Amino acid sequence: MNMKQPKNQLTVTKTFFPPIEEYQFQLQRIWENQWLTNRGALVIELEEKLKNHLTVSNMLVMTNGTLPIQIALKLFGQGGEVITTPFSYVATTSSIVWENCTPVFVDIHPDYLTIDETKIEAAITPKTTCILATHVYGNPCNIEAIEQIAAKHHLKVIYDAAHCFDVKYQNKSIFNYGDVSTCSFHATKLFHCGEGGAVFCKDETLFHEIFYRHNFGHNGPLDFYGVGINAKTSELQAAMGLAVLPHINFIIDERKKVVDYYNTQLDFTRLKKLKIRAHTDWNYSYYPVIFENEEQLLAVQKVLNDNNIIPRRYFYPSLNTLPYVNKVAMPVTDDIAPCVLCLPLYVGLNEIELERIVSLINSVIAPY
Ligand SMILES: Cc1ncc(COP(=O)(O)O)c(C=O)c1O
Repeated sequence: MNMKQPKNQLTVTKTFFPPIEEYQFQLQRIWENQWLTNRGALVIELEEKLKNHLTVSNMLVMTNGTLPIQIALKLFGQGGEVITTPFSYVATTSSIVWENCTPVFVDIHPDYLTIDETKIEAAITPKTTCILATHVYGNPCNIEAIEQIAAKHHLKVIYDAAHCFDVKYQNKSIFNYGDVSTCSFHATKLFHCGEGGAVFCKDETLFHEIFYRHNFGHNGPLDFYGVGINAKTSELQAAMGLAVLPHINFIIDERKKVVDYYNTQLDFTRLKKLKIRAHTDWNYSYYPVIFENEEQLLAVQKVLNDNNIIPRRYFYPSLNTLPYVNKVAMPVTDDIAPCVLCLPLYVGLNEIELERIVSLINSVIAPY
């Protein structure tokens, strides 16, 4: 498959490339160390820098954002029912099924697009083992309500916080919430290692358990703590992270300018935007717009595509329709998922391009 992006195309996202000398500087260190993986100096340094930057106590960098979800489910899922959202990336649900657990979908809130906490208790059965909820587009779930429900029913909470780099909730890193939080450092995310991810967990005992699990269960070269997998990251991935991290404030500032433009220029008499939960310092990770119906979305998508602008239907289809899950109706998600389009949002999107995107969208929705 040819994955090369045609020139002048405005896509939903573009990877941030740090100045090449800064990446080369990190690569040079790898060559000097003659060390490529198994928690080398660059991985350790990246973890330390990220812990400081994010103000979190325990974090472990991994090779992507899916393995930490799978490891958390290995610990908490125990082959039972996992309460989850139908509105997320496929990795959320596929990880549940991969770990031989059963996803039990709970519908979403129509404004925040996160799991509807008021519907969680009705979905709990004696087989429920944990809750896996996504902070959608970096927008926090109702953390307090979920915490209360989990405590009442003795359930663990995993947050798929793949989109949440640098999000703060109640002035604390969002990664501090839940029994375990995970993040993705994929090339499409605002902080990235090309491929990468992380797990966050405050409880020391649990953190050590996750640590062993991510390295084949090793507890020393000849000793095994338990069954594990290989979720380690390499020095090459850490090198990219170390080169990107110094630019993170610039990345977020530039994305904010794009979001501000959309917020002020799009015609919101006919569109709905994401409602960010109160007490959130958001990270401007995605710009979803919700159309009145799918027909309108398809009309806009066609005009944008004809003009070499490629937004993304994200998340679509909703996860309750995947071929390997029990199909259940989710009225809010089933209504919203076909109407959501994520607009281009990245560093370097200029005002002329933004003007073009916005005027095309506004002109298509105007006659409706
Ligand atoms: C909500 C969500 N969860 C999990 C993942 C998986 O992360 P990764 O691609 O790093 O494995 C993604 C990736 O886009 C995501 O958006």
